[in-house]
Amino acid sequence: MLTVLVINSKGGSGKTTLSTNLASYYASKKCKTALMDYDSQGSSLQWLKLRPSHIEKIHGANAVPPKGAVIQRSIQAWIPTDTEMLILDAPAGTKGLLLQELVRKANYILIPVAPSPIDIHATADFIKDLYLTGGVRSSTAKVAVVANRVRSDSAAMYASLENFLCALKLPILTSISDSDRYLQAVAKGLGVFEMDEIVTAKERRELLPIMKWLEGHVPNKNGIRTESKVINLEDSRKWKAYRADGFSLNPTGRFNHYN
Ligand SMILES: Nc1ncnc2c1ncn2[C@@H]1O[C@H](COP(=O)(O)OP(=O)(O)OP(=O)(O)O)[C@@H](O)[C@H]1O
Ligand SMILES: [Mg+2]
Repeated sequence: MLTVLVINSKGGSGKTTLSTNLASYYASKKCKTALMDYDSQGSSLQWLKLRPSHIEKIHGANAVPPKGAVIQRSIQAWIPTDTEMLILDAPAGTKGLLLQELVRKANYILIPVAPSPIDIHATADFIKDLYLTGGVRSSTAKVAVVANRVRSDSAAMYASLENFLCALKLPILTSISDSDRYLQAVAKGLGVFEMDEIVTAKERRELLPIMKWLEGHVPNKNGIRTESKVINLEDSRKWKAYRADGFSLNPTGRFNHYN
């Protein structure tokens, strides 16, 4: 089973939108899919209730910890034993023990981020948390960022986040546009891969780099600011420049040049 955690402590960054679209994509490929909603708002589970009965089933689980509870049951207690793809939709504000528990469960961690300065700053803080207290550095989980609700005028806003991600060797897998298709899909309990192929061609194209990454594809070698906004951090001159500038984790685990 592959477990994908969709998380950002910043509210409204697109966690549920990404979770539901991933779940519906894998379900539509006949992969046994489960979606665990850790958010007390229950948005993913509400979306599941809207799913038409003739569409591929997705198992939904309410994973919101009861008030006061710290340790949760193992995942196996929540989902069918033959689950192949498990998506964890995290709530806003995740930190502390819950953050550590989710990181422990994940094979892949996806961080959607919206292009406002406030969102980007909060996301950089969250990534810091993920590394310094969340246990990512000692886990085998792969981490990547997805730019969400991107408009044609958003690119400049990502520059500071991109600098930070370069230092951490985190790829930005793709840019998801601000599109009504995502809203239309949510309203019907669907993902864009279950809607008309021609109408959703752009949305499908922008989501596919995520699936490729989950299926083991390494982000494009030549990548900084390519069409799909994939950054190749290892080879890029930009990355080396940030390294030279000391924009990295120092031996005490703190970030140089980033507060
Ligand atoms: N790419 C997009 N295009 C258009 N609307 C979007 C897009 N992504 C998200 N939205 C809308 O933005 C709002 C917030 O998105 P979403 O619920 O996915 O965020 P979230 O991170 O799960 O929020 P929360 O932190 O409250 O759980 C929703 O109304 C959603 O439909
Ligand atoms: Mg949500």
